[in-house]
Amino acid sequence: MRNLIDIKDLSVEEINNLIEVAKDIIANREKYSHKCDGKKLATLFFEPSTRTRLSFEAAMMELGGKVLGFSEASSSSVSKGESVADTIRVVGCYSDIIVMRHPKEGAPFVAAQKSTVPIINAGDGGHNHPTQTLTDLLTIQCEKNRLDNLTIGLCGDLKFGRTVHSLITAMSRYKNIKFVLISPKELTIPEYIKKEVLDKNNIQYCETNDIEEYMGELDILYMTRVQKERFFNEADYIRLKDYYILNKEKLEKAKQDLCIMHPLPRVNEISTDVDDDKRACYFKQAEYGKFIRMALILKLLEIN
Ligand code: NCD
Repeated sequence: MRNLIDIKDLSVEEINNLIEVAKDIIANREKYSHKCDGKKLATLFFEPSTRTRLSFEAAMMELGGKVLGFSEASSSSVSKGESVADTIRVVGCYSDIIVMRHPKEGAPFVAAQKSTVPIINAGDGGHNHPTQTLTDLLTIQCEKNRLDNLTIGLCGDLKFGRTVHSLITAMSRYKNIKFVLISPKELTIPEYIKKEVLDKNNIQYCETNDIEEYMGELDILYMTRVQKERFFNEADYIRLKDYYILNKEKLEKAKQDLCIMHPLPRVNEISTDVDDDKRACYFKQAEYGKFIRMALILKLLEIN
């Protein structure tokens, strides 16, 4: 039985295959509409979500399956003190696959040790978010037609942004990838990502706090929200939350085929005047999320 806890649980070949299946789903929706007849997907969300939870639910529905679950811990027995391990054992009796988001780093890993059905990590604290990364990879492949030879700017909260950690880990396995890490000094990328991922794989990267410095060199600009819920101190959040606001002016030097991405939700970090720029890909990116999750559900349920 396979789980998806960390993006490295999938080989590059498996990821490329998921992308191919997702593209086939986009082109042949009808062909997939009964693949999961009789199957149930449980969504256990101990933290808020819109896209991740709803796109998983929509994905299962489009495959002909059914969904159940909860969208906040307060509406489950967790509020009575139940452990994640017990919750998972029980939900495994009611479903064929479980998607779980949790504020504690490592919680989905612990859940997977106890589960009798596949577990998908839908975000664990400030750690990982592998299915957002699959979404991002499908977006990049569809928009740029390649996953190698790219200069990728990652901007905003690189410290707590779990989507950034998983994306760097995934992209570091493709050829000729360069990263421009753009953040205030308080929100730089964690040391373990630098050591274990970037340095270990000899990946070229530079760090700056100026969003315009390397703008003209970027193929991808991945904006992120400052992760309010991970701050210990509200004053720090308020000071940093509007550090970057991408607008038309800041894009002046950008390439014509730049792809602007954002996992969403957006707060202020991209001005709405960018939304109608043809380089803005973030709403398309949200749509791609459903298709790659359909491909992932099929893979983990071993349905061809
Ligand atoms: C992200 C997350 O939950 O980490 N959202 C998402 O899943 N699309 C990004 C965020 O919350 O900022």
